[in-house]
Amino acid sequence: MKRILVVSYSQSGQLNEIIDNFLKPFESVTIERVDIIPEKEFVFPWSSTSFFDTMPDTVLEKKINILPFVSQFKVYDLIIFGYQPWFLSPSLPATALLLDPEFLAVLNNTPVVTVIGARNMWINSQKRVVQRINDAGGRIVANIPFIDRHQNLISALSILHWMLTAKKNRKWGILPLPGVSDKDIKNASILGLPVHKALQKGEYNGLQQRILESRLIDIHPSVMFIEMRAKRLFVIWANLIVRKGTNEKKRAFWVALYKYYLFVALFFVSPIVLFIYNFLIKPLTGRSVRKNKELFLYLGIVR
Ligand SMILES: Cc1cc2nc3c(=O)[nH]c(=O)nc-3n(C[C@H](O)[C@H](O)[C@H](O)COP(=O)(O)O)c2cc1C
Repeated sequence: MKRILVVSYSQSGQLNEIIDNFLKPFESVTIERVDIIPEKEFVFPWSSTSFFDTMPDTVLEKKINILPFVSQFKVYDLIIFGYQPWFLSPSLPATALLLDPEFLAVLNNTPVVTVIGARNMWINSQKRVVQRINDAGGRIVANIPFIDRHQNLISALSILHWMLTAKKNRKWGILPLPGVSDKDIKNASILGLPVHKALQKGEYNGLQQRILESRLIDIHPSVMFIEMRAKRLFVIWANLIVRKGTNEKKRAFWVALYKYYLFVALFFVSPIVLFIYNFLIKPLTGRSVRKNKELFLYLGIVR
C-alpha cells in the first residue's frame, strides 16, 4: 500500500478543509497527517497591529519556533505540503517547517505536491518554496493553488475583514464571502484524483498538465502583473522597518507607515497602473503574458 505524508498549517481551518476534500480520492492509501504548530500561536482574529507587524519577519523569512516535526516513517511515496502565502512569502509556520532538518531529511528524494490556500497572490511564495524543496533534494511534481476569484480590491477588503474579525461572512452585508469559495473547496477532490492516479502508477510526468486541464486553476494577468512588481517593494519595506524600528515605539511607527503605504498602493495606485496595463500594455504583450502564466503554473516542475 502506498504511503503519503500530508503536512500543513491552517489558521482559520480553510486550508485544512481544502486538504480534507483533496484527499477524498486517496482511499486506498495510508495517509499520515502532521500539523505545523507554532510554539507561540498566531492569534486569530488578528489585530490590525499584529497583522501588519508580521510582514518584516515573514518577508525576510525569519525562522519561528514550531513544535518539533515528528513523522512515523523516514520514507514516503509522496508528500503533500499545504501552505499559505503571507505578504507574498511563505507564511512563517511554512518557512519554519522548510527550515526544519527533520522535515528536510524526509523531503530528500521524494515527490512533493504543494497545495496552496491563498487570496490570489502565491507566485512569489511558491518560488521560495520550490527553491527550498529543491535544495533539500525533494522533487515538485504538481502545484495546486486555491484562490479567492473575486476582483483584487474586493478580495483584499473581504479577506482583511475576515482576518481581523475571524468572521468569514459578507462585510457590510454586501461584499462577497471572503476566501476560497465553498464550491472550489469542495472541488478540491476533483484535483486530488489525478494526483492519486499518478501516485498509484508512481509516474508523475504530465501530472501538472492533467491538473490544469481541469480548468479549475488559473492566474489572472493583472494580478500577475502586480505581484511580479510588488515583492521587491515588500523586501525594501521589511528591511527598512527592521533597520529603523530599533525599539517598540519606532517599529510601531514604521509598521504604521507601511500599512498606509499599502493602502494607498492597493486602492489608489494599482487601479491606475492596471488601467494603463489593461488598455495599453496587455494588448501588446499577449505572448509574454501567456509565457509567464505557463512559467508560474509549472514553477519547479520538470515536464
Ligand atoms: C498576515 C497575512 C498575510 C497574507 N498575505 C497574503 C498574500 O500575500 N497573498 C495571498 O494570496 N494571500 C495572503 N493572505 C491570505 C492567506 O494566504 C490565506 O488564504 C488565509 O490566511 C487563510 O488561510 P488559513 O487556512 O491559514 O486560515 C494573507 C493572510 C495573512 C493572515
